[in-house]
Amino acid sequence: MIIGIPREIKPAEARVAMTPEGVRAVCIHGHEVLVETRAGVGSGFTDDDYQHAGARMMQAAAEVWSNVDMIVKVKEPMSAEYPLMREGLFVFTYLHLAADRKLTDELLRHKVTGIGYETIELPDGSLPLLIPMSEVAGRLSVQMGSWSLEAPNGGRGILLSGVSGVAQGRVLVLGAGTVGKNAVRIAMGIGARVVVIDRDPNKLRYLDDIYQGRLVTLVGNAANIEDELSNADLVIGAVLLAGAKAPRLINRDHLKKMKTGSVIVDVSIDQGGIAETSKPTTHDDPTYVVDGVVHYCVANMPGAVPGTSTLAMTNATLPYIIEIADAGPFEAAHRDPGLARGFNTHAGQVTHAGVAEAFDLPLAPLTE
Ligand SMILES: NC(=O)c1ccc[n+]([C@@H]2O[C@H](COP(=O)([O-])OP(=O)(O)OC[C@H]3O[C@@H](n4cnc5c(N)ncnc54)[C@H](O)[C@@H]3O)[C@@H](O)[C@H]2O)c1
Repeated sequence: MIIGIPREIKPAEARVAMTPEGVRAVCIHGHEVLVETRAGVGSGFTDDDYQHAGARMMQAAAEVWSNVDMIVKVKEPMSAEYPLMREGLFVFTYLHLAADRKLTDELLRHKVTGIGYETIELPDGSLPLLIPMSEVAGRLSVQMGSWSLEAPNGGRGILLSGVSGVAQGRVLVLGAGTVGKNAVRIAMGIGARVVVIDRDPNKLRYLDDIYQGRLVTLVGNAANIEDELSNADLVIGAVLLAGAKAPRLINRDHLKKMKTGSVIVDVSIDQGGIAETSKPTTHDDPTYVVDGVVHYCVANMPGAVPGTSTLAMTNATLPYIIEIADAGPFEAAHRDPGLARGFNTHAGQVTHAGVAEAFDLPLAPLTE
């Protein structure tokens, strides 16, 4: 199979879909990889790195798109990439089609087979190509929260670790899934006082066990959340209701009870956010203040650390890329039902139930 890696063109996106090591692995399996020049620069990889790994470098994105069987990307195809799509092409990337009618229509119109990272699902319901980015966002949330708490950045001037003779800051983590657990890990690591709230007692039991009672776990209900919000210096929003908008756990009245200069890092912003006052921001201008509370609501947090994010993402995607290339996409999907769930569109039809439902389109079975 010939695989193409174009340079990402979404603003502020510096990740790349395959590392030079990944290229080498794919080439060892007997496949060919075409990489657009400078595709890896934002993640710390030069064109020479790719060439030494066995890639053929292409000057323009169009050369990559038109000469390969499968395009592998990070972000969804942008409008400038729509004309590069063609019948029979496979595109393997984050698609998030249920929130993007235009892209869905373009994939259908061009009869492209769109395989979405985010809908590949293991038998236990977990989403293996989303987990690495949740790990990154969870760990980064405390770093961004600490930065936002600094006085020059609008925060209340609190050092979360405290110093000798001065108490540590208080971190409230709402949600104890992948993002929440990773936020807790960093917050505990810097010595903050941590409270974590989830509605799933098993998630709380796990954290209580791991940290041997050195943090406070509370069941998710309105009273607990309200009490803890007024104590917190940093609140991290990390809840998820699969396939739905994030639950609104913080309303405008809550903000009035929070400390002036406290910070909400709303990681769940990509699902609408947990605070009534949250609205998406970008890395260029990540925060704003409402009622004295600093809001950090960047919807693609892992983009801030492309060096780590690229490696974490490609660790997870590479086995699927090799699976698809070795067996062919349809045989690979036949062998691996989890991968089959990734097929969102094929031959001009929608092949994923969630996307069909979102746009009231007919659902077609996946057949070659
Ligand atoms: N902003 C970003 O860059 C970025 C990056 C990665 C993930 N995310 C988002 O972060 C969110 C969390 O992702 P995750 O991977 O940790 O999900 P997850 O499914 O692993 O965890 C979600 C947790 O929320 C809990 N929960 C659900 N409803 C709740 C409620 N009402 N009260 C208390 N707890 C509740 C669940 O029990 C679960 O433990 C998602 O919205 C995800 O899309 C954002």
